[in-house]
Amino acid sequence: MDRTLVIVKPDGVERGLAGEIVSRLERRNLRLVAAELRTITKELAETHYAEHAERPFFGDLVAFITRSPSLVMVVEGPRDTFAMVRLMMGATNPAEAAPGTIRGEYATQTTENLVHGSDSHESAAREIALFFPEL
Ligand code: RTP
Ligand code: MG
Repeated sequence: MDRTLVIVKPDGVERGLAGEIVSRLERRNLRLVAAELRTITKELAETHYAEHAERPFFGDLVAFITRSPSLVMVVEGPRDTFAMVRLMMGATNPAEAAPGTIRGEYATQTTENLVHGSDSHESAAREIALFFPEL
């Protein structure tokens, strides 16, 4: 089986959409391996999003992801689970996200786009180790 990291970001938990997002993953037949509601620390956020450290939006991104609890999950599927989840999430900018995707159904702004999903096998392994070292 193949695992990936999924985060319902603070806006998703604040808006009461965590259940809807988990439901979509489960109905797809992706299985929850781990799940924890937690407020991501600044340090962890900066490590997680390190690839964006030089981008102008980095400070706002870290402030956003740490502002209130997120639902951090490990999700398992048969193969290329990260890719399946990314398709279900839709484009980073919700204005470009296809109808039927999570962002395409429930979000309007890039800065409040509800979900994170690892973008490769390598990212998935790195991010799972970062958030769930016991796995
Ligand atoms: P994520 O990492 O959160 O799953 O999102 P993603 O792969 O679809 O997008 P990525 O390029 O990795 O960007 C990470 C997050 O940074 C915020 N962002 N803001 N203001 C901007 O131009 C901008 N660009 C990206 C978004 O919250 C995005 O999800
Ligand atoms: Mg990303």
